[in-house]
Amino acid sequence: MMSSPAAVTNLPVPLTRFVGREAELARASALLAEARLLTLTGPGGTGKTRLALRLASSVAEGFADGVWFVDFSTLSGGEFLWDTVAVTLGVKDPGSSTTLAESVGRYLAKRQALLVLDNCEHLVESAAEVAAAFCPLLRSRRTRRGSTSTIGWSAFSPSTTTCGRRCTGVDVAPTPRSWPG
Ligand SMILES: Nc1ncnc2c1ncn2[C@@H]1O[C@H](COP(=O)(O)OP(=O)(O)OP(=O)(O)O)[C@@H](O)[C@H]1O
Ligand SMILES: [Mg+2]
Repeated sequence: MMSSPAAVTNLPVPLTRFVGREAELARASALLAEARLLTLTGPGGTGKTRLALRLASSVAEGFADGVWFVDFSTLSGGEFLWDTVAVTLGVKDPGSSTTLAESVGRYLAKRQALLVLDNCEHLVESAAEVAAAFCPLLRSRRTRRGSTSTIGWSAFSPSTTTCGRRCTGVDVAPTPRSWPG
């Protein structure tokens, strides 16, 4: 994969052509428009990352502060999880005054960004912790009809195979953005 030269994104650009998956892409796009956190699950090698990248690039125009791919595959535990997110976003270590998680939260709260969190499966609790940390940022979103919605959370498997214990996952997590009320 190569890095994209495009403006505000670090999404890796696949070297091969994206094939098929029209129905899954349409469904994932619809879910992402309604829920602020979308989780793609499925057995290894079934195209979760590829679908997430395709989805993220297809909606990138709607996120003025960028689309960010955060790969947790090199982490053996959750210890450096927030460092990984912060480095990707360019958030500086706040020192001892506050936690890195809080700094990332504050940074994202003012921005319209989409995060693709990949290879979370070996960090299940920590990845859930990241998602939980995003929740306060997502809570105040308003629906298109102007009423306040609860936090959306949606998951689906892009493969037809039943999701079992060996599932891996990709999260596509938009941060808040202004929503026409
Ligand atoms: N729609 C697609 N078009 C073209 N190539 C694809 C498509 N989906 C998957 N691939 C290719 O198949 C391989 C596996 O896909 P991918 O890495 O997305 O799977 P994954 O579900 O994320 O796997 P893992 O669980 O191991 O992370 C990759 O080489 C990817 O480029
Ligand atoms: Mg993957």
